[in-house]
Amino acid sequence: MTAKELRTKYLEFFQTKGHTVISSASLIPENDPTVLFTTAGMHPLVPYLLGESHPAGTRLVSVQKCIRTDDIDEVGDKTHHTFFEMMGNWSLGDYFKKESILYSWEFLTSPDYLGLAKECLAVSVFAGDSDAPFDQAADDIWAEIFRANNLPLTRIAKLPKKNNWWGPAGLTGPCGPDTEIFYWTDFQKAAPLSFNDDNESWVEIWNNVFMQYNKQADGSYQPLAQKNVDTGLGLERTLAVLNGLDDNYQTELFVPLISKIEELSNQTYLSQIEVTRAMRIIADHVKAATFISADDKNIKPANTDQGYVLRRLIRRALRYGRQLGIEKTNWLADIAQEVINLYSDFYSELERNQNFIINALNEEEKKFTRTLEKGMLEFEKLARGDISGRDAFNLYQSYGFPWEMTAELAKERGLSVDQAGFAAELKKHQDLSRTATAGKFKGGLADSSEKTTKLHTAAHLLLAALRQVLGEHVAQKGSNITAERLRFDFSHPEKMTVEQINAVEKIVNDVIAADLPVTCEELSLKEAKERKAMGVFESKYNERVKVYSVAPVVAGKPNLALAFSQEICGGPHVKHTGVLGTFKIKKESSSSAGVRRIKAILE
Ligand code: SER
Repeated sequence: MTAKELRTKYLEFFQTKGHTVISSASLIPENDPTVLFTTAGMHPLVPYLLGESHPAGTRLVSVQKCIRTDDIDEVGDKTHHTFFEMMGNWSLGDYFKKESILYSWEFLTSPDYLGLAKECLAVSVFAGDSDAPFDQAADDIWAEIFRANNLPLTRIAKLPKKNNWWGPAGLTGPCGPDTEIFYWTDFQKAAPLSFNDDNESWVEIWNNVFMQYNKQADGSYQPLAQKNVDTGLGLERTLAVLNGLDDNYQTELFVPLISKIEELSNQTYLSQIEVTRAMRIIADHVKAATFISADDKNIKPANTDQGYVLRRLIRRALRYGRQLGIEKTNWLADIAQEVINLYSDFYSELERNQNFIINALNEEEKKFTRTLEKGMLEFEKLARGDISGRDAFNLYQSYGFPWEMTAELAKERGLSVDQAGFAAELKKHQDLSRTATAGKFKGGLADSSEKTTKLHTAAHLLLAALRQVLGEHVAQKGSNITAERLRFDFSHPEKMTVEQINAVEKIVNDVIAADLPVTCEELSLKEAKERKAMGVFESKYNERVKVYSVAPVVAGKPNLALAFSQEICGGPHVKHTGVLGTFKIKKESSSSAGVRRIKAILE
């Protein structure tokens, strides 16, 4: 089965179960300051999981592109990736555990769909702890299915929160117990009678989360009024098992990349453990970097936020490329081109931003090569004797020289490096930056607090005012809202003048003073486009979307033809602008080439 067939089958199956297909959202979350990337299909749905109504209904299905960096050290094995696609189906207060589990079972085992061998499946359910009880309901449903199919009940494991709890995606938000489905991938041997978490031949393919709680900033779990289902079925892993492979990197989603790396390095995949691992890391990282760069928000390698992750992925790939002996200039772009060829039919942004991607990779490759050269000079100075942890850390910190390079070079010369000392310095530094990050990501729209909701509405007014003052070339490039302030990135080629800033502020404050109603309609994407509503039109399906408008009242109702602002948006928003207070722009600065950033508050 090909990836294309798998995506199609999944979407079709859930359509037959009354689900509406929604498009993959951007990799860069909109309005959510608690995370850098979309880490799961549920992520763009957080407002709806918390109770906002979704214009496409209460049963949704999607294939969502995701980036997860917490498993980055695991990348190099057969199944972990930083970029992956997640197939997901959702119930927003509609069906719950029973249907969710039955749908998964049917999709996986029915010969009309995946037809996977039942004897190779095992599951786990939440064992319960002081926050939430044992998931008896999920356990009962599975037991019934297993009995009916003559499968041993010992294949239903009860595991703690570490295994069987999901979310929130950020610091706060919807979460709950989950049930996970595993497939036995040691195809030479029959699957054992019981499931064992430590046995790597059991590969998790599907995770069904029963979202019953909303985690609060104080760490407590509040029951959600609306009980939801959020599932995630890993595309790469499922594709591998469907094709009898235990290595995702041997599926069609990686083969062209691995072949390219073999050609560039003159080495063979699976010839030696270290070669295999390096090739997997390169393939994974370049794919992730390509998708991050492909996003219409035009993220570039940088020292902060998403740009930092992008830089780290690219540099890590370059380092492993060096280890494999790749010498060609601009080689990352060769692999990126394979990624573009491989995925363009499903993700049109790859083609749309092709030049941007290739240039960004080439530029970063050049920069890193220079960094390495400088680092090498510095290393030479230190390499007269054994290298202290602090010196290794300085090389890393001041010259961007990776620890592994220091270790490798030292080894070549028979010198030792104080690894423990390096780790201690690194830990000190990371603790500092983690504190900074925790402070920075405090609050968030994910918690729908009153303050963030107000700032979210203010962001819509700001965009409309910017377009009035600066022109219609202004488009939103990203926003990040905490309870304290809003940060808004938009396209504009030059610094705003003081007069322009004052004019924008005045327009927003006039709209607040006029106390206009904020109304919401559900439209098809086509209708929203005709309205000239602002927002992302990347959708592949003619989905229904929510459009929030701020418009004057004429003859007793909002006259949308005269709207000040209309935006496609998930919400939530205030009901009328009068409650916002006074809008103040605190700072206007450059964010990246052609993109400006405004920080603003409400007083
Ligand atoms: N949110 C869950 C996960 O990411 C299921 O979609 O695994």
